[in-house]
Amino acid sequence: PVSKDKDALSTVAPYACQRQTPLIHHNSKITDALEILGKAASFQGSEVRSLAFARAASVLKSLPCKLQSIEEAKNLVWCGGHCQTVIQEILEDGVCHEVEVLKNSEQYQCMELLTSIFGVGVRTAERWYNDGVRKLSDLADLHIKLTAEQKAGIEHYTDLKQPVTRDEAERVESLITRALDRFVPGLRITMTGGFRRGKQQGHDVDFLITHPDEEALNGLLEKSVNWMDSQGLLLYHHTKARSHVQTRRRSTHMDGHETCYAIFALPNHDSLKAESGDFTSSGACRWRAVRVDLVVAPYEEYPYALLGWTGSKHFERELRRFSWHEKNLSLNSHGLYNVEKECSIPATSEEEIFVLLGLQYVPPPYRNA
Ligand code: GTP
Ligand code: MN
Ligand code: MN
Repeated sequence: PVSKDKDALSTVAPYACQRQTPLIHHNSKITDALEILGKAASFQGSEVRSLAFARAASVLKSLPCKLQSIEEAKNLVWCGGHCQTVIQEILEDGVCHEVEVLKNSEQYQCMELLTSIFGVGVRTAERWYNDGVRKLSDLADLHIKLTAEQKAGIEHYTDLKQPVTRDEAERVESLITRALDRFVPGLRITMTGGFRRGKQQGHDVDFLITHPDEEALNGLLEKSVNWMDSQGLLLYHHTKARSHVQTRRRSTHMDGHETCYAIFALPNHDSLKAESGDFTSSGACRWRAVRVDLVVAPYEEYPYALLGWTGSKHFERELRRFSWHEKNLSLNSHGLYNVEKECSIPATSEEEIFVLLGLQYVPPPYRNA
């Protein structure tokens, strides 16, 4: 078994999209540490270092067994340099000193807190930190100017930091299915994101919506969102219109699908009972806030949008990097483009996209890179 394991370790493919990465893996102690270092690097504005840690963590997630020694790690792609020291420390001492210091630092904890607010990215969090913000109540005390999105994020902070369960995600699904059905029958509505990859909980619920008749999609999101709002189902929503994307150049992480970023007021299971009066505690909440993303894609872009919105983020990043560097093709969630011939390559399923890229198909539960 030793030589077989060693074989497995030295043959890990360099791109995450060439590997199968399950949700539950064997090296989470090390990957947790590497991901904290990656997050800290991104808080410091170093995307290159952040990416290096993400790559190493992703390799370890794909291993069929638990790393036993630093010798084994030496055979692994992307796991050299700084990452190797971290791996060695954890294998030998059970903890990595640098990570422990970081986790306990005021700056890391504040950045973690601030970036966990809906509508707050690293740059905003850093600005606020430099302005002296250390806890949520400082935002009001220091008269920090907030966007509507951030105001909603802070107002519902406690609910939103509570993970969304699969059961809650399914209740959101039936709510939006009913709302969208009122306007257009026969839509295809797919839960994407982490739940499609088999996660049991998430920070939000993501949906992709399409219909064979492109006309049917015109104005659909606006009408159904307004209707849900009128029903008291929405606490916040912002819809980004469909936009033209530069398809013939190397793709960025941005895409141009019509998208609604929302906070739902998801009625509790027992809210009906509460209405009818046999719910005794008077202050009981009848709903909880849940973050929801709704994406509308034209039918012919659907397989690309599905692939692009299923994640994980690292898997997506690697798919795009692989397409560009290995196949000279530009991939985004609208399509695949041959830059030289200036033409786009249609696909009717995710499986077909993998074939077009010369990759073995990776089912969603194995895209947890
Ligand atoms: P949790 O929600 O934390 O459970 O994880 P998740 O994997 O569902 O993350 P998230 O909801 O942030 O994103 C889901 C997928 O959509 C990821 O693969 C992202 O890369 C992708 N995604 C998020 N925002 C955008 C965007 O603006 N454009 C595109 N094309 N993809 C996005
Ligand atoms: Mn999600
Ligand atoms: Mn999302």
